[in-house]
Amino acid sequence: MSLHIGAQAGEIAKRVLLPGDPLRAKHIAENFLEDAKCYNEIRGAFGYTGTYKGVPVSVQGTGMGIPSISIYVTELIREYGARKLIRVGTCGAMHENINLRDIVIAQGTTTDSSIIRNIFGPTINFAPLADYELMSKAMEVGQSLKIPTKVGNIVTVDRFYDDDIDNEKLRRYGILAVEMETAALYLLAAKYRVQSLGIFTASDHLLTKEAVPAEERQTNFNDMIKIALETIIQ
Ligand code: ADE
Repeated sequence: MSLHIGAQAGEIAKRVLLPGDPLRAKHIAENFLEDAKCYNEIRGAFGYTGTYKGVPVSVQGTGMGIPSISIYVTELIREYGARKLIRVGTCGAMHENINLRDIVIAQGTTTDSSIIRNIFGPTINFAPLADYELMSKAMEVGQSLKIPTKVGNIVTVDRFYDDDIDNEKLRRYGILAVEMETAALYLLAAKYRVQSLGIFTASDHLLTKEAVPAEERQTNFNDMIKIALETIIQ
């Protein structure tokens, strides 16, 4: 057991999908994995291990924001030996090239969080990047399943409700989408030398102000999960 995850040693796979919403972890386990068993209910952060095409895969809800995902990712890597971690979440589209419902793969992530300078100090701006092997595999899987994906830089923000952030400037510099966790995932993956990737569906659009209705979100969420599972078992 670790502080926040109630699993015994060996109950979590080396390959882990990371949805923010713990109920999505349940959905993935029930609809995509075989023989899935729940290993964690602490704080309602459900975690399951099962198999996908015969390969052991776990799925762990991380909660929202950098502090929360950092706890789960650190414990998964340090205490349970996770080696391939793919975040599967939603994002806000912020670029004209991204449409509502699109699947976005984060090649890298820019952030307003202090986690980078807390580690590297004021002069070095470490660039949190996706694992190249996972990223290129995800793009290839998307193509073979005929599910279009967009790839590029995203922004990981500390505040969902942020009236002060200059989204127009971020857009001009090619930032595709906004979410709240991936900078921490990529940073921790670099620290512990494991592989990580973030894949998202655009659930709302900052330019058009549209949002995907809640009941419709499952469909393109499921496409993203297919890409993530086919990628992680390689
Ligand atoms: N996740 C999904 N939509 C988002 C948004 N608009 N801002 C931050 N995180 C998000």
